[in-house]
Amino acid sequence: MKNLISMRDLKPEEIYHLLSVTEKIEKGEIIPDMQRKLAALLFFEPSTRTMFSFDTAMKRMNGDTIIMSGTKNTSAKKGESFADTLQTIAQYSDIIIMRSPTEGAARFASEVVEIPIVNAGDGANQHPTQALLDLYSILKTQGTLKNLKIGLAGDLRFGRTIHSLTQAMSLFGAEFKFISPSFLQMPDYIKDDLTLQNVKFDEIREMNGNISDLDILYVTRIQKERFADPEDYEKVKGSYVLNRDMLSHVKDNFKVLHPLPRVDEINTDVDNTKYAYYFSQAKNGVYTRQAIISILLGEV
Ligand code: CP
Repeated sequence: MKNLISMRDLKPEEIYHLLSVTEKIEKGEIIPDMQRKLAALLFFEPSTRTMFSFDTAMKRMNGDTIIMSGTKNTSAKKGESFADTLQTIAQYSDIIIMRSPTEGAARFASEVVEIPIVNAGDGANQHPTQALLDLYSILKTQGTLKNLKIGLAGDLRFGRTIHSLTQAMSLFGAEFKFISPSFLQMPDYIKDDLTLQNVKFDEIREMNGNISDLDILYVTRIQKERFADPEDYEKVKGSYVLNRDMLSHVKDNFKVLHPLPRVDEINTDVDNTKYAYYFSQAKNGVYTRQAIISILLGEV
C-alpha cells in the first residue's frame, strides 16, 4: 500500500492486515515509533474527528504534524496552484493527509508527489480512513465482518463515508438496507457494482419498523453543505430521527454507528443505551489511523 485513496483499491487481505495491526496497536502489542517523522495535515474542509485523530495518532507515536486548515494565510491566496502547494509541502513532510471538497483531489495529489497520500475525504466521493475505522468497530462489536446485515440511513447520495463503507462491506458478504428519501438515495454507480457482485440490497424509505433484523445501523447526517439548492435541503432535513423507543425489538448484538458529527438524526436518549457505539467508534479512529500511518511509512 503506497497511498490510501479509495476503498476500492484495497483487497480483503490488506484490510484484514490493517485491522490486525490496529488491534495490536490498541492492545499495546505493537508500539510504532514515528520519531523524526512528520505528517502534513491539509484540510480544505472542516473536520473535528479526522483531523484531530490523525494529529493524536501521530503524536502518540512520537511523531509530529504540520497543519493547514483552509487556505487563509497561505500562498494559495496569491495564486499558487494546488500542485505547487503539494510539491512544496512534500519537501517538508513524510506523509500528506488531505481533505478536499473536490472529488478526485487525493488521487490527483498521489500523481503529483512521491510521498504517501491519505484521502481524509474528497467531496461526496470517498472517506477510506473512516471506512477502515468503521470496519474495526464492526469487527470489535460483532466478532466478524462476514455475512452481516447492515442498515445505512440518511444521506446516501452525498455521504462519502457511506460510499466507502458499502464498498468495503460488500467484500465480506454483507446484505444491505438502504434507508433514505428518494432524493438522497444511493448513487447508481454503487448499486450497479453491488448488482454485479450479487450483493443483496433493499431500498426503503422508513427507518421505524425496519431495523429489528439488522446487526448494524449506520446513521448519517444529511449534508447541507453539498446541496446546490437550499430548498432541496429544507425538503429532506430531519427526515430520520432514531430514538430510544425505536430500539425495543432490535437484536442483542445490534449496534448503532455514526461517523459523526450528528445534527438531529440520533436523539440523545439513544446515547446511554447498550446499542450506541458512535463515541467508541470515534476513539477507534485513533488506533486505526496509527495503523494506516505506520503501514504507509513502512514502520510495521
Ligand atoms: N467522521 C468525520 O469525518 O468527522 P469530521 O468531519 O469531524 O472529521
